[in-house]
Amino acid sequence: MDMGFIGLGVMGQPMALNLARAGAAPVVWNRSPGRCEPLRAAGAVVAADPAEVFARARVVALMLADGDAVDAVLGRGIPDFAARVADHVVVHMGTTSPEYSQALEAEIRAAGGSYVEAPVSGSRRPAEDGELVAMLAGEPSAVELVRPLLKPVCGQGVFDCGPVPNALRMKLAVNLFLITMVTGLAEAFHFAERQGLDLEQFRAVLDAGPMAGPVSRTKAAKLVAGDFTVQAAIDDVLKNNRLIAEAARGAELASPLLDVCHELFGETTALGHGQETWWPCCTRSRPGPPPARPDSAAGRSPRAAQAAALSPHAEPIRGAGHPHCHVAVERRTAAGQGPPAPAGSAAVAGGRGPGASGGTTAGTGQRAAGP
Ligand SMILES: NC(=O)c1ccc[n+]([C@@H]2O[C@H](COP(=O)([O-])OP(=O)(O)OC[C@H]3O[C@@H](n4cnc5c(N)ncnc54)[C@H](OP(=O)(O)O)[C@@H]3O)[C@@H](O)[C@H]2O)c1
Repeated sequence: MDMGFIGLGVMGQPMALNLARAGAAPVVWNRSPGRCEPLRAAGAVVAADPAEVFARARVVALMLADGDAVDAVLGRGIPDFAARVADHVVVHMGTTSPEYSQALEAEIRAAGGSYVEAPVSGSRRPAEDGELVAMLAGEPSAVELVRPLLKPVCGQGVFDCGPVPNALRMKLAVNLFLITMVTGLAEAFHFAERQGLDLEQFRAVLDAGPMAGPVSRTKAAKLVAGDFTVQAAIDDVLKNNRLIAEAARGAELASPLLDVCHELFGETTALGHGQETWWPCCTRSRPGPPPARPDSAAGRSPRAAQAAALSPHAEPIRGAGHPHCHVAVERRTAAGQGPPAPAGSAAVAGGRGPGASGGTTAGTGQRAAGP
């Protein structure tokens, strides 16, 4: 069975190419038409709009940035929606909140369509190699229909997670580990660099050791080479970070490691690096010798003050008004260290969990503020 494929970004383009090369000849569409050209060259049909994809294919995979993009492509909220999804299987492969996915499933089923949640683990390189891991959730019959279609892109495994939104919950759990691990790798790299170590040797020691894996090998090599080409953009990691923290707060769970990562990625975005790959959060704020006390006069943490000093146009933590800085601002304000929280931050901190109540993280005393 042929598939339609919508969304040819960093991940979607290599995924669709692998489907085309495997003979699945997907019908594709992307908002920016230029990204369709490699697919055309590989024999795929390039549709004029999303409606044409649905007209040509019964199963349509979406690898889109977020819920707004999915809504736009499906025509959600306008009469086109029901006509588009009825008698189709919509396969949502991007990363959104579990709640968003659950609501989308209900609307698609009410309109006479089927829905499968199929987020993937792995970044651009595994996507190019057809070595992603997929997590599936949905009605069993739809899941069984979709599973074999994903074979050319998900060589590392396809896992049945049960009903929607368990696949996205699984994806968020996996990403929590990934985000904190890669942020730790970046920090270790800067430690090695500042200690004057041979960075090639640092990479070789890591690669030879028990913690090595495809992620650490790929990212350590890129760090040592100073190669910041995008595998996953900082803005996207920040979005994922926020989704995980929201889900944690919804389950009344603190996530102190993740919150630190969120702060770093927020600073990086505020410094203007949101479209770069995802470890400059530490690269851009390379510290000098640690100051003895917070830079309270400026209302900044020492690291934020150093980042500002290193980057003359930077206002990393005072990026009030920048949505991704709310957590850092809110935390500093609560501690009496920072500027007033920007408008909207109350909503960001307004989850049901300890972050909303101003509680502390068990065992650490850390305030459990989260995005
Ligand atoms: N990169 C990773 O390592 C990775 C790994 C696993 C999962 N994911 C998830 O997979 C999804 C895609 O990631 P990506 O890295 O491929 O992102 P990306 O490169 O930013 O691609 C996003 C795609 O969404 C499209 N899009 C955005 N807004 C749209 C709108 N309003 N209407 C129609 N199309 C719209 C973009 O079209 P244009 O080309 O026109 O902008 C593009 O095709 C995200 O949910 C991400 O969290 C990413």
